[in-house]
Amino acid sequence: MVDKAARTAFVCQQCGRAASRWLGQCPGCGAWNALVEEAVRETRARETRTGASAATPRPLVAVTAGDTVRRSTGLGELDRVLGGGLVQGSVVLVGGDPGIGKSTLALQACGALARQGLPVLYVAGEESPEQVRLRAERLGMAEAGVGDVHVLPETATEAVIEQLERMRPAAVVVDSIQTLHTGALASAPGSVGQVRESAALLVAHAKASGVACFLIGHVTKEGALAGPRVLEHLVDTVLYFEGDSGHALRVLRAVKNRFGSTNEVAVFEMGERGLAEVPNPSATFLAERPAGAPGSTVLATLEGSRPLLVEIQALVSRSALALPRRAAIGLDVGRVALLLAVLEKRLGMPLHDQDVFLNVAGGLQVDEPAADLAVVAAVASSARGRALGEDVAVWGEVGLTGEVRAVGRADARLREAARQGFRRCVLPAGNTRGIDAPAGVTAEGVTSLDQLFDVLELR
Ligand code: TYD
Ligand code: MG
Repeated sequence: MVDKAARTAFVCQQCGRAASRWLGQCPGCGAWNALVEEAVRETRARETRTGASAATPRPLVAVTAGDTVRRSTGLGELDRVLGGGLVQGSVVLVGGDPGIGKSTLALQACGALARQGLPVLYVAGEESPEQVRLRAERLGMAEAGVGDVHVLPETATEAVIEQLERMRPAAVVVDSIQTLHTGALASAPGSVGQVRESAALLVAHAKASGVACFLIGHVTKEGALAGPRVLEHLVDTVLYFEGDSGHALRVLRAVKNRFGSTNEVAVFEMGERGLAEVPNPSATFLAERPAGAPGSTVLATLEGSRPLLVEIQALVSRSALALPRRAAIGLDVGRVALLLAVLEKRLGMPLHDQDVFLNVAGGLQVDEPAADLAVVAAVASSARGRALGEDVAVWGEVGLTGEVRAVGRADARLREAARQGFRRCVLPAGNTRGIDAPAGVTAEGVTSLDQLFDVLELR
């Protein structure tokens, strides 16, 4: 017990001050609730000092890209967000709300890897092997390939690593990282210290052995603490699962990737037999678009490198409250408030006594400023009770004076709109220079909201 106490310290996450026991307030910087138990690794420090570490410098030109070995997970969309397949020895964190489909995705990937003859280990910390088996049956994995998927009901990190050393699988899924605990720390499973230390042990093992590692992490209601966020800097790739459980559409987004581009997304649909790849996401996101309804606009947005058409809906209605409501699902509320202020001030649209609700249909989260023009058009369309044409797609950034600014990749957005059968695109004038609109589509450039209103007849 004495030995154990000597090997851990409680370290303030704000200022780095270490204490020998947990304290509510950091004696160094005064921050509350900031002390987290960590393992003290004296051996590592000593190794570095004596030069015992194995790494030697080599010329950059002598390093070849072939050093990273990728293999397909068997799920094309997952491969794409990973940057072209799963890298050997890489650690991928899959985060998301409970019930969104993390375990389902992981098990499907296991099945697909096993079908290629690769042994995979599924560490089930939350569910019994029987439950995992039931899910596998539901996913149609029971017959084909399930033989090489091994289930391990275990929550002790050291025991998991021992099994990995014995079995030497190609990939391991840890479901979830929050259930693991290591004997190195005295704190409870699920605490920041435990989650981070367990992940660090697995990362070290993955780098040494070459096993590809999926860590599943729940996003807790409280947000950052003890959730997957504390692990983001430790792992190679961070994928977040988005979408609400009321919708079938799920978006898997790479927010960090040491082996590929970030912000790449994959779109899946949750069905009776698990997650299915959605080959034409734009069509799926627009499938239930109402015809001729005021307040609905189509935005050509970019998700990573991929253009995507989504419907932005607005509802503007007279408020009974002194302070009218502004709510936005799938959009940044601060940004929406700014756009409403611009509409009010620059175009004299009376919104101060109106409730304004905005929604991105299909449960997608749209973060880029290019959504501005579509938001403004949707709000104006609802406020005026006038529907936009069904064949119009819109994008562009709006500035505080009501000017419309150019955004990236206009050509890709235009082509996607054309592919989905749209005939008119209203976009920033700055984007129309030197652009070749595909046949059948007109690109109408606007420089201000005034012009937008003229072009879309929203006055
Ligand atoms: P799950 O993968 O268990 O979510 P997480 O691991 O992120 O908590 O998925 C949970 C939901 O998915 C659950 O509500 C049931 C649903 N589901 C389907 O609709 N179809 C399926 O084939 C499977 C396996 C699950
Ligand atoms: Mg799960």
